[in-house]
Amino acid sequence: MSRTIKFIVVIILTLISLYTIGSWSEQTVINYFVSIISKSINPTNSTILIADISNKSSQKLPENFKIGISTSAYQIEGAWDADGKTPSTWDTLIHSHPELISDGSNADVASDSYHLFKDDISAVNSIGLQFYRFSISWTRILPNGSAINQNGIDYYNKVIDECLANGIEPVVTMFHWDLPQWLQDLGGLPNEIFIDYFVAYADVLFKNFGHKVKRWITVNEPYNYCIISYGFGIWAPAIKSPGVGDYLCGHHLLIAHAKAYRLYREKYFKMFGGEVGITLESPYYIPKDSSVSDKDHQRALQYRLGWFANPLFGTGGYPHVMIDEINERSKVEGRPFSRLPQMSEEVKKLILGSADFLGMNYYTSSLILINKAERDPREEPSWFSDSGVKESADPTWKQAKTFWLYSVPDGLKSLLNWIKNEYNNPPVFITENGWSDEGQMIDDDRIDYVNSHLLAVAEAVNEDQCNVIAYTLWSLFDSFEWNSGYTLKYGFFHVNYSSPTKEKTPKKSVE
Ligand code: NOJ
Repeated sequence: MSRTIKFIVVIILTLISLYTIGSWSEQTVINYFVSIISKSINPTNSTILIADISNKSSQKLPENFKIGISTSAYQIEGAWDADGKTPSTWDTLIHSHPELISDGSNADVASDSYHLFKDDISAVNSIGLQFYRFSISWTRILPNGSAINQNGIDYYNKVIDECLANGIEPVVTMFHWDLPQWLQDLGGLPNEIFIDYFVAYADVLFKNFGHKVKRWITVNEPYNYCIISYGFGIWAPAIKSPGVGDYLCGHHLLIAHAKAYRLYREKYFKMFGGEVGITLESPYYIPKDSSVSDKDHQRALQYRLGWFANPLFGTGGYPHVMIDEINERSKVEGRPFSRLPQMSEEVKKLILGSADFLGMNYYTSSLILINKAERDPREEPSWFSDSGVKESADPTWKQAKTFWLYSVPDGLKSLLNWIKNEYNNPPVFITENGWSDEGQMIDDDRIDYVNSHLLAVAEAVNEDQCNVIAYTLWSLFDSFEWNSGYTLKYGFFHVNYSSPTKEKTPKKSVE
């Protein structure tokens, strides 16, 4: 039997079983069947996407390579207190400190995806993409940590069903920074109690949605989340504890992720056969001049991506350089133990290999220098002083509206190669890549950015055999961009925020 026939047979059997166990209606089954077949024949009908690549016959993406688009719950859902949902740390921060958001806005309504999710999915469908990555709001599902809120389950069932009915695979992130306020009140991420609550939450998600969601991402961008939320104290819950709280946050996230992964493998995998991964993020670091030796360069990448990737995909545990150096510094600072938490052999084993794929958000790269000067041990510590990394940009790189975002597609290719060599070529699912501007409808810079980055991916796959399996655009809409409010526009669709129905209009990139 040819691969296509086998594929169609498997789909028919799956749909028949979904229909017979009663979880899908007849119409849903038919719609899904029609759209999945047409998408497998024509993976994307978007005008810009892969346009450049298809012109270069040597740089085609593999047939089974998937392209999708992403959002996150807090950035689009609104309905911040609807139907039993309790506040997340972002709701709390924004309501108590609106001055921290550059345009004084909030995400109480946002693009109102809670009520308008059908429009969102129809937008994804209109550009012919194969999957939609969105996140679940923890406090819609578990408003106080114990009882399940059926309204929350119903809402996400509707979103998932709408995706499936349109032939779009739902790719679900469990935690995209909107931590329950009730959990922060217990200490949040720096408290190890986070682990048990996260695993209990994951269990609820797997149990309720596992028969329909086959690709799970536990956590989005632990590096940024921990450094900015519990280090700098700028993102919610705005706890300022650099060089201590951020390392604790990372530690508990890694363990929580690994336990959720193991839970899935033990309790759900046989039944559902899905995959669970994590989304990390990293720029590629490029030495700015010859003062940065090869050893310095590798050390810097270990601090940045290796902090989370080495325990999961590398040799296990934190990179040695981080363990040794932070331990030494902590001693000099007069501390009784290292600021970087220790991992027991058992914990190392739990974490190592606990991901079916490596989700990677890639936006930009940077030139680096390393500050090797002795630091006054009385100064406040931080990841930055520990790593000594000083980042800057090459003046020839095109800059987006976001101050740190430059277009460096070669950096993506180098990063993918670094991952391949360092971690034995794991499957890499690019979970975000995107460009911000002023919101203009003729978004030529976004088109160039996407095409050049897709080309970099294709080259990494074809020339270097990097195991990249999917690519995700950020973002479907101009949405709430954390402390920058609505001032930075990453969307492929414009949203009319002044209208109650939040009409979406495609920009040139997806027309
Ligand atoms: C990564 C984050 O996951 C997302 O929430 C954010 O909007 C983009 N970066 C752009 O800054």
